[in-house]
Amino acid sequence: MTTETVQFPTLVSKVAGLPVGKLAEQFGTPLYVYDAATIAERICELTQFDAVRYAQKACSNLAILDLVRRHGAVVDAVSAYEIRRALAAGFVGGPGEPAQIYYTADIFDRETLDLVVEHKIPVNCGSPDMIDQYGERVPGGQITLRINPGFGHGHSKKTNTGGDGSKHGIWHEQLDDCLERAKRNQLTVTGLHMHIGSGTDMEHLSQVCGAMEKAAHVVGPTLRSISAGGGLPTPYREGEERVEIAAYFDLWDATRNRLATTYGNPISLEIEPGRFLAAESGSLIAEIRAIKHMGEKLYYLVDAGFNNLARPILYGAYHPMAICFADGGEGSEETVDAIVGGPLCESGDIFTQEEGGYVTCRTLPKASVGDYLVIGCAGAYGAVMSSNYNSKPFAAEVLVENSKPNLIRTRQTFDDLIRGEVIP
Ligand code: LLP
Repeated sequence: MTTETVQFPTLVSKVAGLPVGKLAEQFGTPLYVYDAATIAERICELTQFDAVRYAQKACSNLAILDLVRRHGAVVDAVSAYEIRRALAAGFVGGPGEPAQIYYTADIFDRETLDLVVEHKIPVNCGSPDMIDQYGERVPGGQITLRINPGFGHGHSKKTNTGGDGSKHGIWHEQLDDCLERAKRNQLTVTGLHMHIGSGTDMEHLSQVCGAMEKAAHVVGPTLRSISAGGGLPTPYREGEERVEIAAYFDLWDATRNRLATTYGNPISLEIEPGRFLAAESGSLIAEIRAIKHMGEKLYYLVDAGFNNLARPILYGAYHPMAICFADGGEGSEETVDAIVGGPLCESGDIFTQEEGGYVTCRTLPKASVGDYLVIGCAGAYGAVMSSNYNSKPFAAEVLVENSKPNLIRTRQTFDDLIRGEVIP
């Protein structure tokens, strides 16, 4: 169920169609650059689904939310402030068909419960307690349930959200109890949702349809929607293949059609991608600030670190990397095997590492201080997972739309950084 392999050149001059040097000069480094066209294309690929519900945790900048809204997607939120981001970007609360904002989580903190009630945000409950807490506030309302089908898979153990090793969702064998609980609270269960993990593959994703169908028969005729969750993989390595969306849709469509026929109601089919929409649109541009040897090993040290992109240190995640020469030229074609690291005062601040912290080398063009390193596929779980470790400011972010680079987040200043800190 896959097609088309992807190539990632190790020498580039442009990102999102614009010269890297110019972007770096205009906005400084480290810099996140997103290509609006890529996000728009990915949404378009999914339009067979009744709703493309963007999992904004992947990249929640207001301008990105506004972009996905303009291209017809709706949004999922996992916290009070993600709900508020969605509202600030022009999505509206209330039920709707499909609802523009959904809240999917395993708990309600008090602030979020108040907010979903205030804005009539539909909720997708991932724990039995959420049913009681919501029922107390909105008796007579409707809910959907996130079910943990007892299996899961992700690109890392940390992103596997199924099975009893995961805290996510309502355990599939407790669905009956939860329906009882909903009834006691005068709530109707109108939808089911399953998300087995992030960065998984088609083999595992395909197994979810069967589990969904089984759970749907436990819920029965009140069911109006099913959500396939997120998890669609995207290529990060040279030669990886893209997933074939049409075949994936067909599996889900068949499931939904069987349910619709059995219960005599239309069943809407949602998908909830994060990575699939955002990953390939984003690049992190950094400047090489030092090149040094440690024994036999060569290090390129750049001005971005795991404060900007935490995926390598957290999961040993692999990102494509390319050099852009400061003069925009082609260089000498000479390559080196380099370890690529950042500026942070911590040995783990290495972009070329595998899970477990094993440092690896990357074959890259021979570069000099002042040249740029472009880390690709950084749009999902990049900027949103930034930190201020070592008092490093959040990077600036730029969205390129119709060849125009729009600054969508200013680089944090020192005053931004210490805001809220108090010397008593
Ligand atoms: N829906 C739910 C309920 C989720 O928990 C997630 C991701 C998604 C949808 C979107 O999944 P996606 O389509 O992006 O795979 N920081 C990790 C990924 C964590 C994913 C968390 N939940 C990483 O950088 O790989």
